[in-house]
Amino acid sequence: MRPQNQLHILFSRREIAATVSRLASEIRQDYHEKYPLLIGILKGSFMFLADLIRHLDFPLEVDFIGLASYGKGTQTSGKIKVVQRLQSPIEGREVLVIEDIVDTGLTTAFCLDYLRREKPASLKLCALTDKPSRRQVPVTIDYLGFTVPNKFLVGYGLDLNQKFRNLPDICFIEEED
Ligand code: PRP
Repeated sequence: MRPQNQLHILFSRREIAATVSRLASEIRQDYHEKYPLLIGILKGSFMFLADLIRHLDFPLEVDFIGLASYGKGTQTSGKIKVVQRLQSPIEGREVLVIEDIVDTGLTTAFCLDYLRREKPASLKLCALTDKPSRRQVPVTIDYLGFTVPNKFLVGYGLDLNQKFRNLPDICFIEEED
């Protein structure tokens, strides 16, 4: 019989909501007078960013950058491509990058290097999840939601072959016969 993907909840929607709220408090403390520009890395960060900014009751702007690293399936290709450029200039801005997961770190490291060349006033990173066991390049995460085990995660924006982004919980996949 063909193996099926079994989904198991790692972080429930309630745990995610509490963590997003906690991250928003930390960000609020540091940025409420800075008129920051939050940059979501597409596609995975869209749900996290949308929930996060609902908690941020101070002036800010939002932009997106489209980066892609993974080919099909669960293996990274190691090559990062800009598939959608920023709309706004970031020179002199207080920039906070919003990422759903830091895995090998290649995407985030590429993104931070790419943005740093545009001379923002400051550049920090908020990641909902961090999988340090897979890291290939060092990445400093300034605001972190969850440290996660070395399992393939889907849901809450995270995908497998573009599927499962709509799940409200963060789940891991196990292949079972
Ligand atoms: C995923 C995820 C991160 C990146 C993390 O994006 O959203 O951006 O991989 O992996 P890394 O730390 O090993 O680079 P992906 O390239 O799959 O595109 P997506 O956001 O459109 O799903």
